[in-house]
Amino acid sequence: MSPGGDPSEERVGYEVADRFGDDEDVHIGGVASLGDVPSPFGGERDPDPCSLVIFGVTGDLAHRKLMPALYDLGCHGVLPFGTTIVGYGRQELDDDELRALLQGSIDDHYGADTIDGSLCERILLTPRYVQGQFDDPEGYARLGAVLDDLDAGGTRGNRMFYLATPPSQFGVIVEQLGASGLARKGAFDAESARGAGVPGWTRVVIEKPFGRDLETARALNLEIADVFDERQVYRIDHYLAKETVQNLLVLRFANGIFEPVWNRRYVDFVEITAAETLGVEHRGPYYEEAGALRDMITPHLIQLFSLVAMEPPVAFDADAVRDEKLKVLRAVRHIPRHLAARCAVRAQYVQGVVDGDGVTAYRSEERVAPDSHTETYAAVKLLVDNWRWQGVPFYLRTGKRLARRVTEIAIHFKLPPVLLFREPAGGGGLQANVLVLRVQPDEGFSLNIESKLPGHGTALQPVAMDYSYGTTLNELPFSAYETVLVDAMEGDMTLFTRGDQAEEAWRIVDPILDEWAGKPQREIPIYEAGGWGPETADALIAGDGHTWRRP
Ligand SMILES: NC(=O)c1ccc[n+]([C@@H]2O[C@H](COP(=O)([O-])OP(=O)(O)OC[C@H]3O[C@@H](n4cnc5c(N)ncnc54)[C@H](OP(=O)(O)O)[C@@H]3O)[C@@H](O)[C@H]2O)c1
Repeated sequence: MSPGGDPSEERVGYEVADRFGDDEDVHIGGVASLGDVPSPFGGERDPDPCSLVIFGVTGDLAHRKLMPALYDLGCHGVLPFGTTIVGYGRQELDDDELRALLQGSIDDHYGADTIDGSLCERILLTPRYVQGQFDDPEGYARLGAVLDDLDAGGTRGNRMFYLATPPSQFGVIVEQLGASGLARKGAFDAESARGAGVPGWTRVVIEKPFGRDLETARALNLEIADVFDERQVYRIDHYLAKETVQNLLVLRFANGIFEPVWNRRYVDFVEITAAETLGVEHRGPYYEEAGALRDMITPHLIQLFSLVAMEPPVAFDADAVRDEKLKVLRAVRHIPRHLAARCAVRAQYVQGVVDGDGVTAYRSEERVAPDSHTETYAAVKLLVDNWRWQGVPFYLRTGKRLARRVTEIAIHFKLPPVLLFREPAGGGGLQANVLVLRVQPDEGFSLNIESKLPGHGTALQPVAMDYSYGTTLNELPFSAYETVLVDAMEGDMTLFTRGDQAEEAWRIVDPILDEWAGKPQREIPIYEAGGWGPETADALIAGDGHTWRRP
């Protein structure tokens, strides 16, 4: 605590040892306290302290993502002092056991001997545990008593419910939060809380995927709307919380050179790729239910698409940005079910070699049906019926056990109308300019342009103008889950999905899901692990005269 300062104003922040990576996100885990860190959209980060109630605190997400992210927020110096973790779950634990569990998550991530013990002390404070089933009203009564107790302390009466549970439990928990009075409908910020006569705001953070299709997403939205005001609801897309994705908005709208060419006159096509080298790991049962389209295309890649394709918002506030995203989603051309095969491809991996190691087929993975038809690869072609994008295809693809782990957005520009120069050395034709935004790993972007080969004549060679966060700014960005947590604590909804957006994303893919579900008995196409997906995906894009990048 700063001398004479208000403890509730203090930010947790210490210098700690080293930098570490993560399989999906970069976690800082070691940059010196940065004090007040600028928000990506201007201003300083100023999150409120709160009771952070984690449903599913014993799960994988809490262990691998949330606890390291909270620790990183401490390292960044932005975790508000007073924030207290409350775990709710069915396991028999006490407060001390929860503390050990959470501490173990941080230790596992960073190594017990490298983390800053005093920082952990302060992040964890005295976590509280409430034992109960998700549908047990008495459990919520006990939770309410703990929260009342914490309201009187450093949380300033603010409450954030984080639903880190299987999606099947979202509706159950929301209903119980409503029935128990814990939802405090309408109290989305300090002012509305005062109006509602409660001591602080209440927000609910909902993990992905949001529904299984349009019908279930609508039903879940209705259940939520019964209990919460939309301004209290933070539907997560942690991809949107990645630094490069936020930078996409800055790149487009804070630079004069991109927006004039960001349209059908100059852009040939756009690729959005989320490729993983991992298989399903221990998440077989979840993945069997979800598949690549539900797991990645709807919650993440369609959201990335909407940021690339949307019109400039009138302001950088949550509703202005989300209104534009919704508008472009609405402009996506309907894919009739009978044409789904022309616009979408699915496949499943068989055994192969990834990063030099032999890996098994999806059907041989732990807790996966030996005759499973679940797709581990999906590619979708979208067309947008508006003035900016008419005729420009957007190709979205994702897959597990591919050749490289990479998430990127590639904007392919058209070739110049007349070629004055010789073919590049080695032939291969003139390369069109490509702007690549690397979302992960090695966040940054590059612009590929043609250049003259040194020497006589005017032979051409493609070169890249490259910008990388790690080297250019010598600073690692916030991890996605740090951004998710701090934005929700600040009440900044810009990067969270609004209910209508979630439904619109399902509207786009629903006919594809219906078509695939109608043909379960048909053999699903396969691709070899360690490659770049099935031949049918190449054909999807080759039909338009394009080829996928091999990043
Ligand atoms: N894991 C990831 O990398 C990841 C990434 C992005 C998004 N997500 C999303 O995050 C959410 C959680 O995923 P996860 O991987 O953490 O799942 P998980 O490991 O299966 O954990 C789920 C948690 O929910 C609890 N739970 C499950 N069913 C329950 C029930 N019927 N009653 C009471 N408790 C129950 C589990 O408690 P027990 O310990 O008692 O079983 C556990 O704490 C999902 O929506 C997922 O899509 C996960």
